[in-house]
Amino acid sequence: MRIGLLTGGGDCPGLNAVIRAVVRKAIDAYGDSVVGFSDGWRGVLEDNFEELTIESTRGILPRGGTILRSSRTNPYKREDGPQKVRETLARRGVDGLIAIGGEDTLGVANRLHGDGVHVVGVPKTIDNDLGATDVTFGFDTALGVAVEAIDRLHTTAESHNRILVVEVMGRHAGWIALHAGVAGGADVILIPEIPFDIDEACRHIRRRHERGRYFSIVVAAEGAVPKEGTMTLSAGELDEFGHPRLGGIGVRLEQEIEQRTGFETRATVLGHIQRGGTPTAFDRVLATRFGLAAIDALHDGAWGMMVSLRSTNIELVALSDAVSQLRTVPVEEYERYGVLFG
Ligand code: F6P
Repeated sequence: MRIGLLTGGGDCPGLNAVIRAVVRKAIDAYGDSVVGFSDGWRGVLEDNFEELTIESTRGILPRGGTILRSSRTNPYKREDGPQKVRETLARRGVDGLIAIGGEDTLGVANRLHGDGVHVVGVPKTIDNDLGATDVTFGFDTALGVAVEAIDRLHTTAESHNRILVVEVMGRHAGWIALHAGVAGGADVILIPEIPFDIDEACRHIRRRHERGRYFSIVVAAEGAVPKEGTMTLSAGELDEFGHPRLGGIGVRLEQEIEQRTGFETRATVLGHIQRGGTPTAFDRVLATRFGLAAIDALHDGAWGMMVSLRSTNIELVALSDAVSQLRTVPVEEYERYGVLFG
């Protein structure tokens, strides 16, 4: 078979491990050839590609980012987009395409499947918010970065009797904030799923002071939102999938907390540090398992399916199930940890 491969959306540690696994198994086990499209769906629209071989993918397993590069291009935002995708795939003789991405990239893959394109999905996102899989690779790496940051901020917060706010990624889901906050012993954790009450957060911080804990760590997901009418936030410009550019809640919290409590407060925005760099061993293994399963799925003609981790097994699920609903943090899960905060 002739296999097409692309990585779309925000990059994520482990993408190269998937590419490597796909290329090795495709070529060595099946005798396939692999064409890698550049910059996500943009490469397919513009027919930009490179031939992927065992040699060209050597040494990429521990490397962060993606050798194919990525973009947030949406073919359905262009009138002739889906047609162009079909034309490129036909021109390059692609029998089946593997799309590695999150909700947006796989949302496009699902629509293309409906339009007759032979496509299989591989889930990635540091946000860990894709449906129909227990976990996505990239999350473990991002979490490790966030926890290390919190540990470091803890010691300086304590030394200066300060409130330190850490803004982590997580547009719609608070998995990084919740797990990093729990692992790092944060005192307040704010996630997009549950609008927060700034007064309550400040009460919590004051109570700690009354008990002789003169510092606090506040972890906020970038997508955390205040309860209506309690605090103002400014929204950034939209991308091709309609998502606003986030990043700003940390600084707003710094201002509000300092003003309301009178305690010295500082914000740290971790941003893309969480997405860059070398993947953890867990993410490398998961990404490799996904890559190996994706190439089998392709040979089985499992079009419109996505590889997924269910418990400890790699299974195939419908792309439509994966993208129909985001996997957000359940309220009960968040509340379970409430007793530890403060
Ligand atoms: O979807 C993953 C993610 O890292 C989000 O957490 C974040 O909001 C977004 O990507 C940032 O995207 P960009 O790198 O395009 O600004």
